[in-house]
Amino acid sequence: MTSTLRAQLELLDLHPAATDMRQQVIEGMAQSPKQLPAWFLYDTEGSRLFDQICEQPEYTLTRTEAALLQAQAPAMAAALGAGTLVEFGAGSARKVSPLLEAMERPAYVALDISAEHLGEACQRLHNRHPQVPMLGVCCDYSQLQQLPPHALLDEQRRLGFFPGSSIGNFPRAEARALLQQFRQLLGSSAKLLIGIDQPKAVERLEAAYNDAAGISERFALNLLHRLNRDLGANFQVDQFRYRARWLPEASHIEMALVSTQEQTVSLCGLSWSFQNGEALITETSHKYSPESFLALAAEAGWRPEARWSDAAGDLSLHLLKQAD
Ligand SMILES: C[S@@+](CC[C@H](N)C(=O)[O-])C[C@H]1O[C@@H](n2cnc3c(N)ncnc32)[C@H](O)[C@@H]1O
Repeated sequence: MTSTLRAQLELLDLHPAATDMRQQVIEGMAQSPKQLPAWFLYDTEGSRLFDQICEQPEYTLTRTEAALLQAQAPAMAAALGAGTLVEFGAGSARKVSPLLEAMERPAYVALDISAEHLGEACQRLHNRHPQVPMLGVCCDYSQLQQLPPHALLDEQRRLGFFPGSSIGNFPRAEARALLQQFRQLLGSSAKLLIGIDQPKAVERLEAAYNDAAGISERFALNLLHRLNRDLGANFQVDQFRYRARWLPEASHIEMALVSTQEQTVSLCGLSWSFQNGEALITETSHKYSPESFLALAAEAGWRPEARWSDAAGDLSLHLLKQAD
């Protein structure tokens, strides 16, 4: 390790939300159906609710992926090689520990849009791994042209880590563009370890996003509270109901808030009307078979190096490297 890589935690805030939200709301509300980017769900309360979703019995993705990482970390670390792990959308950064323990002289960079939650997550992780140099960057990773200049990123190979099947939150064309952008951000010698949730029985898929405790519903409705608070909107939160359904032709779960009556909402200085029954899509979660995911990755210039799956075949972690 070079002397500039110190075992300390640094935080950097690029203040992403302030610049981007207004324009993206105007674009999203003008679509038919109305749809907002999934990152809007993650203010501090949204991040907290997402952590609770991960603990619900119906939402098995987090537990399954964490167990797979725990079981396969030595093989994954060996295949990744030396470098700095760069996690896109780190959330509570609860999945990366087995990799940090298995890698030789690891370093870690967490990117997330939810500033306060990111700071707390990095501090917790740093307490657990005090020898690992760490940097937390609050940013919108989908808008980054380059990673910020820093010794952790400039002096070591960059190894992307994108668990949680978060790539599924982007429509296919955007997902391809994002994977291309990751290649650019990570550089030519990079690898990318990425988690992919696979199609499964419709009952299981829909239950995962309709937990009995109603946390997914609170997570979606929190978006309206956020828009009221941050953008001066006047959503009547009790006039929307949550709906999550599997759309087989799109191979995705669609999560939406459905207006329970005809109404007009003002937002960003403009008025938007909702019909009774009209949906505002808050998030989609695309499920890829390993083959369909690798086809997407190939279009973005990544080729497969290794793959690890759980015994039931619910999800996979793919290790990708840059195509020649
Ligand atoms: C589904 S959670 C996954 C968290 C964690 N990686 C995991 O696997 O459990 C998505 C995370 O990505 C963050 N996020 C979503 N869109 C983002 C964006 N465009 N830029 C940066 N962070 C984003 C959210 O704040 C949230 O913490």
